[in-house]
Amino acid sequence: MTVVSTVPVSLGERSYDILIQAGLLERLGGRLKKLGVKGKVGVVTDRHVARHYARNLLGTLKRCDLEAVPIILAPGEQSKTLKTIEHILDALARHRFERSSLLLALGGGVVGDLTGFAAAIYQRGIPFIQIPTTLVAQADSSVGGKTGVDHRLGKNLIGAFYQPRAVWIDPLTLRTLPMREWIAGLAEVIKYGVIADEQFFAYLQREMSGLLRRQPDIVAAVVKRSCEIKAEVVTSDERESDRRRILNYGHTIGHALEALGGYESLIHGEAVGIGLVQEADLACSQGICDRTVVAKIRDVVQAAGLSDRMPPWSPAKVWKAMLHDKKVSGGQVVGVWPERIGYVRMAPIDERVFHRWYADSRSMSAGNKSFCKASV
Ligand SMILES: NC(=O)c1ccc[n+]([C@@H]2O[C@H](COP(=O)([O-])OP(=O)(O)OC[C@H]3O[C@@H](n4cnc5c(N)ncnc54)[C@H](O)[C@@H]3O)[C@@H](O)[C@H]2O)c1
Ligand SMILES: [Zn+2]
Repeated sequence: MTVVSTVPVSLGERSYDILIQAGLLERLGGRLKKLGVKGKVGVVTDRHVARHYARNLLGTLKRCDLEAVPIILAPGEQSKTLKTIEHILDALARHRFERSSLLLALGGGVVGDLTGFAAAIYQRGIPFIQIPTTLVAQADSSVGGKTGVDHRLGKNLIGAFYQPRAVWIDPLTLRTLPMREWIAGLAEVIKYGVIADEQFFAYLQREMSGLLRRQPDIVAAVVKRSCEIKAEVVTSDERESDRRRILNYGHTIGHALEALGGYESLIHGEAVGIGLVQEADLACSQGICDRTVVAKIRDVVQAAGLSDRMPPWSPAKVWKAMLHDKKVSGGQVVGVWPERIGYVRMAPIDERVFHRWYADSRSMSAGNKSFCKASV
């Protein structure tokens, strides 16, 4: 018997379980049957994921007398648009999906966000299940019910909070993930250690080489702990009015860098990796944490194979991009600052403080040293 881990997400009548089990994908038909699913099931996925998993998945659904309707999208962030939503809705309407029909989101965060949003608005809401296949999606985006698409004026600008009926995770799917995507996902995992769990952070310090080799027991443990932390944060603040914002640590600078790079030169997790270190450095420059905290975060980020260096954009450009983020409130950039490993606090940051830090860290940046290292 393979081990099944269950992490509950307790949100009243919108509660659901995250199930983590190696080999789950092969038994998906049976699991759906047990849930009482009948008839049509829409399988939304992208071409890369379909290449690896669609045939088997459609086979298991068929063996269980379920009629699978595959909806295969172009991969990548460029697909996260209203146009793709229209394409999904067209397919659902054409195949006469009803209120009770189910959608499966098989893929990374892009497929998950798109499928969730289509499920939220088709006939005012139909059920969907997240079956995440990237580390970002297994550890982060499939849990919590944020769904949506990008707009040309901003990422994730259009969307809805809409919870899945379940999140089913098969860590074996991570074996086919390209290395760049794998490493990018590690940034989100490191984030959890910094914001909420010093022990988990220490585990990542210790086990990073096994994690980079995708050792199954370490991968399963890391995905599970990430889901637990995400579930805990989300259940305490489903609609991001307060505590949920701690999940944005690394993302204030991260999102700005991602946007400045046109979502190509840096993929999400790569930008967040830089954000984790630079935001800690910024916290240190404001006296919020001491430099050992920055050094520890930098070491883990580097050990994961992520960059910790600011790309050479001007501070004015970076600040402007930070102001564009939709997390900005009343024109203020609110950052998430580590006080120590496992504990963060939220506070607004002043433009002058940001510029002073940027100039100080740049002035010694022949080796891209941090403000805090330099002030030893
Ligand atoms: N909803 C949320 O709470 C939330 C949280 C974080 C990120 N996100 C969103 O998630 C998206 C990023 O997600 P992502 O990093 O998973 O990117 P992604 O969905 O674009 O997947 C990355 C790449 O990996 C490929 N892929 C996926 N699974 C694979 C597998 N098992 N084997 C081989 N290839 C595979 C995909 O085809 C794609 O090319 C962004 O749009 C971001 O905004 C949402
Ligand atoms: Zn993220």
